Amino acid sequence: MSFLYPIRLVSILALFSVFACRQAAVPVKVSRATDHSFGNAHEVRIVHSHLDLECDFDNKKLKGTVTHRLDSVRGRKLILDTRNLEIQKVWVDGKETDEFQFGVFDTILGTALLIPIDSLTKEVKIAYSTDTAAEALQWLQAAQTHDRKKPFLYTQSQAILARTWIPLMDRPDTRFTYSARIRCPKDLLALMSASNPQQKNDSGIYHFTMPQPVSSYLMALAVGDVQFRALGDSCGVYAEPGFMEEVAWELADMPEMIRKAEALYGAYPWGRYDVLVLPPAFPFGGMENPRLTFATPTIIAGDRSLTSLIAHELAHSWSGNLVTNADWNDFWLNEGFTVYFENRIVEAVYGKDIADMQAELEVGELQRTIARLMKEAPNDTRLKLDLSGRNPDEGLTDIAYVKGFLFLKHLESVVGRSRWDEFLRSYFRDNAFGTTTTDAFKQRLNDSLFQTAEEAVKANAKNWIYQPGLPENWPRPNSTRMLTAVNASARYLATGQPDTAATRNWVTQQFQQFLRSLPDTLGHNRMAALDAHFRFTASGNAEIEADWYTLSVKNGYKPAYSAMAQFLQRVGRRKFLLPVYNALAATPEGLVEGKRIFALARPGYHAVSAASIDRILNPE
Ligand code: BES
Ligand code: ZN
Repeated sequence: MSFLYPIRLVSILALFSVFACRQAAVPVKVSRATDHSFGNAHEVRIVHSHLDLECDFDNKKLKGTVTHRLDSVRGRKLILDTRNLEIQKVWVDGKETDEFQFGVFDTILGTALLIPIDSLTKEVKIAYSTDTAAEALQWLQAAQTHDRKKPFLYTQSQAILARTWIPLMDRPDTRFTYSARIRCPKDLLALMSASNPQQKNDSGIYHFTMPQPVSSYLMALAVGDVQFRALGDSCGVYAEPGFMEEVAWELADMPEMIRKAEALYGAYPWGRYDVLVLPPAFPFGGMENPRLTFATPTIIAGDRSLTSLIAHELAHSWSGNLVTNADWNDFWLNEGFTVYFENRIVEAVYGKDIADMQAELEVGELQRTIARLMKEAPNDTRLKLDLSGRNPDEGLTDIAYVKGFLFLKHLESVVGRSRWDEFLRSYFRDNAFGTTTTDAFKQRLNDSLFQTAEEAVKANAKNWIYQPGLPENWPRPNSTRMLTAVNASARYLATGQPDTAATRNWVTQQFQQFLRSLPDTLGHNRMAALDAHFRFTASGNAEIEADWYTLSVKNGYKPAYSAMAQFLQRVGRRKFLLPVYNALAATPEGLVEGKRIFALARPGYHAVSAASIDRILNPE
């Protein structure tokens, strides 16, 4: 009997606080339609945040406090973004207050947290814990890791998920420095987008500092059984012990990539550059967390053919992390610039041939995306997006990436490479540690790139930025090695004979182009002959596998299905999953199979991937 009393008291208190929050819910509006944040950055600046968190793997929760240091307070309250967070206590300048309130829940933005402050307030501290529904977090069981020995946790904050694990102003246009103390199980190592430990210690407590100001979407944490290995003076990799050999070999070109990147657009601004190779559930290829890129293990192909992804995330150290899109409508400033920069790094490290092949593959995808979007949502094919009232995830298409890239290629061709490179160097220098907008970029083109009216006309920037589709004179990549692949697929269609001589020295990108050029009507025999010859099923190269399984579904080629089902259960990278599930969803029979596989695979997917696949298999 005696132990019941405190439990009852606790639950009555809990009920009361839920009730009190509901009572207090106040309508809060975003201050600009382009915002995806309630944060009132125009009234208060957060200059530094300190996290003190414990990783509770048993309950899949982060618990602890965040302390925000304020500056230039003009309003009477601090408004933060939260989503599914349990806020326990709030202190204003060391004094606990219960006068905080919550905004009305918004399905895209979450819940605003309003804390009364005044012009003298210096510091706000919040005790909170995350919910099991925190979309940014993925808690993996040991079986989901490479070595299958220890659990793993990682975050994915971009675009607006940082608010699911930290109450903060979750908007790209304000920057803050941060520090952290993270407590985790003693057999695991904690890493952040900050200064990082290189080995485990006996306490399980790790300290971090990020002395350069970053935007909220770059907040990142990973906890797992990982080791460090240096690849150069200021760069290295983190991976699970049993994977380290393969990872270190695959990514050995990193120091060279950094040297080439610096030679192109200026000194690397963040001190160290390391890469953490995550378990396969990671929903993206890579995430440019400052000082520590998070990467999918699907780039570990055994032949260094997929390392351009590292070039991409490295390039974000300038385009994105150093010069940041002010809001998600300007997403192409992050990604288009990065694809361009990535392509230049690849050209410098691996040669123009490889860079051109890569570009051609991407442009093929862009053309398919444009064809689809022109029917569904033509305005989403404009570089400058309108994501008001929408989830910024909807802006995550080839438009920002590849149309953005082509626009910059086009500008390069208008003024010539040397003037263009000089322009980009000054763009990064002048905007360093700041944010920028599409309009400011356009103004900059007029002010400091174009030298004649003719150049401005040729550049046609207004059309590129504000019109749907592609302008007439878009730069066509042309790679003879890619042409070989397209021709080989036409020949195979005609003859049914794989051309062994022609394909002997092919690289991954050529196989991808070959597969993407084949029709949906190959028939069982030709699919079987291809597979017998090239062993695409379970090829071990995830890019090729994803293309092959997509083609297999479109052709109803059943012998590939069991390997496909395994692939879909092992790999969580959304880019690979979507085409396969889309192909499955195109026929009633495929849809049944898709749903069957998804039911098995879903517990292993990150929320971001699961939500996208849900939409494919269960459209409203
Ligand atoms: N920053 C992106 C990933 C991202 C964008 C996550 C928006 C959430 C919202 C990252 O740099 C990226 O572009 N990754 C690509 C890799 C690439 C080589 C194009 C990916 O994950 O496929
Ligand atoms: Zn990117």
